[in-house]
Amino acid sequence: MNCKADSEQDVSHNDDKENTKTLGKVYLVGAGPGDPGLMTLKGKGLLECADVVIYDALVSPAVLSMVNPQAEKINAGKRRGRHSLMQEETTQLLIDKAQDHAVVVRLKGGDPFIFGRGGEEMEELINAGIAVEVVPGITSGIAAPAYAGIPLTHRLYSSSVTFVTGHETSGKYHPAINWHAIAHGSETIVIYMGIHNLPYIVEQLIAAGLSLETPIALVRWGTRPDQEELIDHLGTIVEQVEKTGFEAPAIVVVGAVVNMHAVLSKQEH
Ligand SMILES: C[S@@+](CC[C@H](N)C(=O)[O-])C[C@H]1O[C@@H](n2cnc3c(N)ncnc32)[C@H](O)[C@@H]1O
Repeated sequence: MNCKADSEQDVSHNDDKENTKTLGKVYLVGAGPGDPGLMTLKGKGLLECADVVIYDALVSPAVLSMVNPQAEKINAGKRRGRHSLMQEETTQLLIDKAQDHAVVVRLKGGDPFIFGRGGEEMEELINAGIAVEVVPGITSGIAAPAYAGIPLTHRLYSSSVTFVTGHETSGKYHPAINWHAIAHGSETIVIYMGIHNLPYIVEQLIAAGLSLETPIALVRWGTRPDQEELIDHLGTIVEQVEKTGFEAPAIVVVGAVVNMHAVLSKQEH
């Protein structure tokens, strides 16, 4: 891949050659859920010729090992808990790096536009006059269940899926997730960032009318060598999480498709 030819842009808006400045381009690249084999060819090509890679905490070491050894690697996930400031700092860093480097990769776990703040970052870069492009990745909400033997749709059990966050931030356009609507809106529910609030989410889904027997699966570090699964029912999952000490990061799947795990988890990776 000839990244430089693809990315360099002349941002001069006048005829004065002295003031002509060449800026780089920022690529918002999805790193997928962890298995390096799930990285897209386009994303891999960009990692191999990147000048700078700014990556998040959930990007797997196996994917990071694909990065051009000469590239500057910056961990933007280090200072967790300072989200708003960190986001501003990260965006500014991208803008600064694009002033001096042709290929700047913003590497995000899964897909950048699925609960990854990719939309926000891209908007800010466009507003700052920086060339930017998204390279989608395989989102963990699809890949982790798949590796656990859970198809999100199945002709016999589910013809609809909802992807929802279990972790709501303040200042959103919508004050709260309507779990009642989610419970009735589709047959499979996939919850990102749902472990911390699981007792509340389960309580809401049961209050909305889902049976205590509804199957539920938690898939931690999906697609990685240390993937862990916890398969249970809505009525007992919270107790099981406490008993086993199951922790984030994990994808939660609710619905009859979870029963397919019994057979499809016999697949080999
Ligand atoms: C901020 S969201 C980022 C989602 C990401 N953009 C994606 O498309 O997968 C972080 C959450 O994604 C989920 N997640 C990311 N990678 C995962 C993995 N390998 N296995 C299970 N869950 C994962 C967890 O729910 C985690 O708390």
